[in-house]
Amino acid sequence: LGVTGAGLLSACSVSQPTGTATTFGTPGPVPTTPGQRVTTASLVAQRTTLDLGGPQVATWAYGDTAPGPIIRATAGDLIRVTLNNQLPADTSIHWHGIALANAADGVPGMTQDPIRPGTSYAYEFVAPDPGTYFYHPHVGVQLDRGLYAPLIVEDPNEPGDYDHEYVVVLDDWVDGTGRTPDEVLEQLIAGGGTAGPGGMGGMDHGSMGMGSGTAPFGDAGDVIYPHYLINGRVPAAPDVFEAKPGQRVRLRIINAGSDTIFTVALGGHRMTVTHSDGFPVQPTETGAFYIGMGERYDVVVTLQDGVFPLVAAPFGKEGQAMALIRTGAGSVPAAAVRPAELTGPVLLGAELMPAESARLASKKPDAVVAFQLNGQMAPYQWGINGAKFGQNDPIMINQGQRVRLNLANMTMMTHPVHIHGHTFGLINSGLRKDTVLLRPMETMAVELQADNPGDWAAHCHNIYHAEAGMMIAMNYR
Ligand code: C2O
Ligand code: CU
Repeated sequence: LGVTGAGLLSACSVSQPTGTATTFGTPGPVPTTPGQRVTTASLVAQRTTLDLGGPQVATWAYGDTAPGPIIRATAGDLIRVTLNNQLPADTSIHWHGIALANAADGVPGMTQDPIRPGTSYAYEFVAPDPGTYFYHPHVGVQLDRGLYAPLIVEDPNEPGDYDHEYVVVLDDWVDGTGRTPDEVLEQLIAGGGTAGPGGMGGMDHGSMGMGSGTAPFGDAGDVIYPHYLINGRVPAAPDVFEAKPGQRVRLRIINAGSDTIFTVALGGHRMTVTHSDGFPVQPTETGAFYIGMGERYDVVVTLQDGVFPLVAAPFGKEGQAMALIRTGAGSVPAAAVRPAELTGPVLLGAELMPAESARLASKKPDAVVAFQLNGQMAPYQWGINGAKFGQNDPIMINQGQRVRLNLANMTMMTHPVHIHGHTFGLINSGLRKDTVLLRPMETMAVELQADNPGDWAAHCHNIYHAEAGMMIAMNYR
């Protein structure tokens, strides 16, 4: 239903598109400007065994934790990160959401050569906008192995009105159960049997009793996961944030999952959403909100006295991720506790209004571009503008133009659309985002200002869809 002619999406393969091999060489160092701070980090991508709070999993990670090390910088800093690749595979790092110079964007074949096993690569870039971001490889389905970590860019002009800040990273965890993410992808493409330890999730239309009963996302996802994690922990051995009653805490929430939309709630509290994908919004109170893969939301909460479950419920799937916020005595909530807030109204990010400082001002577009999501579960084929990545035509954009993208989801699944190098504004509100959920058959017009030249990727942030072909190049010249 709603899918372009079957012939347009030819059989999928996991390989990069073939064609003229470009080599990119090593980017030269980025010079600092007078007075500019430099933030440095060095990372090792490696095989390791993680303790998820019970389950021991052999996987790939940055160092020996997942999430990997937080990189914290201030807007305007020059960020220098060296990655040493000790994996048995090529890799890269993409700085998700950062409007950086194209050469540092971390997309092999588009902005750099892959980082070969046993070699190192130096990323240097300026992070212009404060906010909550993350980093992950842009190779295959490596994100789903545990290669992800927060990148926090602080605002030098705004210290923030809160007592504590916690970074909360959500993930769906497939590794350590006998199938690697690559094998899951192969199974999805082969279409045979189960994809993931618990089988296929694609036929589940249920809302699990969550939300306002609107079940807005259609099919739940392609992969059922054995574990859902907050900061690398299963609910039985949760991460615990300590604070005092009455304190205000800022939670920076990142969905690093590969195939899971979560509903987030903090038991006994209402949250005030303050930022979406790093940019300030008009403060909006809610008991719960959705967060798609690749999205980030910051919320501020004034804490009650006790022990409270911070729960991320996977949309349409069983189980949950959980952390605890403890401000006083109280019994520890059970690992399966469902905060009542999950059954009330659930905020969808696209409904937020931007803060005036972050609103994309409306302007007559210079160009209007189609951006259609195509595909289906069986056969497992996903593409943009009628063909999979490598067979679809790059979207050509002229530098300096105001470009309207008519996003159209022609499929029966929800897809988080992520655009590199730029944030876009939803035309109805001017809300700035770099990743937005498009529900089945939904259309949404967004605009961006072409102010960052280069070849940029745009894709679905369901990492299995992206790797199967739901990606396109946007070439800004
Ligand atoms: Cu977080 Cu191109 O992705
Ligand atoms: Cu998708």
